[in-house]
This record gives sequence, C-alpha cells and structure tokens, in this order.
Amino acid sequence: MAILVCGGAGYIGSHMVAQLLEKGEEVVVLDNFQKGHHDSLLGGKLYSGDLRDDAILHKVFTENNIDAVIDFAADSLVGESVTEPLKYFENNIGSTINLLKAMRDYKVKKIVFSSTAATYGEPDNIPILEDDRTFPTNPYGESKLAVEKILKWCDNAYGIKYTALRYFNAAGAHISGKIGEDHRPESHLIPLILQVALGQREKIMIFGDDYDTEDGTCVRDYVHVTDLANAHLLAVERLRRGEDSVICNLGNGKGFSVKEVIETTRKVTGLKIKAEMAPRRAGDPAVLIASSDKAKNILGWAPKYDSLQTIIETAWQWHKGHPDGYVK
Ligand code: UFG
Repeated sequence: MAILVCGGAGYIGSHMVAQLLEKGEEVVVLDNFQKGHHDSLLGGKLYSGDLRDDAILHKVFTENNIDAVIDFAADSLVGESVTEPLKYFENNIGSTINLLKAMRDYKVKKIVFSSTAATYGEPDNIPILEDDRTFPTNPYGESKLAVEKILKWCDNAYGIKYTALRYFNAAGAHISGKIGEDHRPESHLIPLILQVALGQREKIMIFGDDYDTEDGTCVRDYVHVTDLANAHLLAVERLRRGEDSVICNLGNGKGFSVKEVIETTRKVTGLKIKAEMAPRRAGDPAVLIASSDKAKNILGWAPKYDSLQTIIETAWQWHKGHPDGYVK
C-alpha cells in the first residue's frame, strides 16, 4: 500500500517524502513543479502534473494501490493571496476538491491535510488552542479554513477520515544537509537572514518594532520541518488504526521575536548580520504561539529539534551547502 504525497517536491513535502522513505513506506509523489524542485526528491515514484487535471489523478490512483494521501499542494504566499485572492481560492480549494473527488471514486479513506496558523488570524489568546476563534486575515488562511470545512463534510458523506495540521512557522532543514528551504521569491525570515550571512543580501529588514511585544518585534513559534513531517506520519498511522478525524496545531509552544531570531542566527553563523528597521508588513499579527498539547496527546507527537538554535543550525548547514538553492 502506498502513500500519495501531493506537493511532495515542495519544502515541507520533500521532507515528508524523505521521512516516509526512511520508514520504509511506499511513496508516490504528485507535483506540478510550479514551486517544487526535482532535486528535493530523494526517492518515490514521481508523477508530474496538477491536481486539477482529472487525467493525471486517474492515472495515479489506477496505477498505484494508494492507502492514504498527504496533501501539501498549495500556493502559500500570504501577501500574494491578498492581491490575487481568486488564484488562491481556485488553486488551494479547487485542487483539494478534485483530489477528494478522486479519493471518493477510488475509495481512499485517509487524508492528512496541510493547514496553517493563518486560519486563526489575529488571535484572542496565546497560546492558541484548536477550538479558538478562526477569523483569517488573508485569503491564504481563508482558503485553508475552507478546505478544513470541506473535509468535515466529505467525512460525513463519504467516510473520508482526515487530520488537518495547522502549522505555525515551518523552519530548518533535513539533518543530512541534502534538502532544505528554497522559495522563489524568498519571503521567509530565516532563509532571508541566511542570505545576508552568505553575502547575497546586504541586510535584513525588520518589519516593525512597535508591536506590543517585549522588544517591539513580532513573535513567532518556529517548528522544525522534520518534526512537522513526523507529525504527518503519526497522523497517517493513527488514521490507519481507524481513529476519527481531528484538527491539530503544530508548533513548539515557544515564541521568538524577529530580533531574537536574528541574534541567534548571528550566534550560529558567527557572522555579523546587518539588520535595519522597516515599517510593519501588512497583516502580520504581533504574536503567534501554538498550544500543541492536542498533537502531543492525540498523535503522540514529540518534537525532536525544538530549540531555535538547532532549527537555525540545520537551515544554515543546507544554505551553506546550497548557496544558490536547488539547481534548476
Ligand atoms: N519578517 C521580517 N523581515 C523579513 C521577513 C519576515 O521582519 O524580511 C518578519 C515578519 O514580519 C514576521 C516574521 O518575520 O513577523 C516571520 O515572517 P515569515 O514571513 O517568515 O513567516 P510568517 O509568520 O509571515 O508566515 C508563516 C507561514 C505562512 C503562514 C503564517 C501564519 O510562512 O505560511 O505563518 O500566519 F500563513
């Protein structure tokens, strides 16, 4: 029985594929390579195509004995989602609907879905619990929340059991140094700071120092990409045991400010990293910290790389080895 990883050539998807292969699982990957990288795939049977293409889905589901699906395929730039909401609704919701139709038709009953802290919007309480209010402040978060609701109704109608995992800030790279984070364009804090460390960028801009936080900069819960992948594996195993659908946060429950992340990166790299204050970025909540008690209790999740220093060390190892990212 194989596990289908949609978006398996992306940042989190490729770490998922690596982990499944390490566990001896049979892996099938479907990716349209709009954002994914061929070199990020360490194995698995690859199908190149889009989830909105019925023909490729038919091929994947008829040629393989798929037991469960892990779905990472999505557009995920918060800023872009505000200016191009229809692109986000069409792709993120449309492709998952198509995938669910294929799952219904081929009687595949387990899915682990890549959701996000952006479903909460500006939180009322810290740490954030899964049943706190969800009020997305951008179309990206809205599209993921919509899929969570669609999953609920597909469970009700077709018995497709799901686990939706709401990630906080995915970061770090595989311990082997072989795969890591390469977004184009890059907008995430840690890779951008490392580009400054590599001399590819003059400075890192700090988006706002007038937030209601200890040092005035935004606080985030950084979680290692391998720990995220591990949570998906545990979620698949749990669904295989016949357990019910669930939504879980994934974070370390510890927040770090932008300034703290820069300072830790200076320590890890031993390099001076120039930083400069800039205005706030629209739509950034001041503080996002997860309660992951539910994932720990229900999935038995225990993050291994839970210190910011380790997260940055693994990212630095990959960036040093791949200064130009994956070669296209
Ligand atoms: N930041 C800077 N300078 C930069 C880049 C980022 O100061 O050059 C700050 C941001 O303002 C934010 C923090 O660093 O406060 C982290 O920013 P990222 O862009 O790395 O990550 P986000 O918190 O914006 O986004 C993450 C995920 C999204 C998800 C979102 C949930 O990447 O997919 O959390 O709110 F939607």
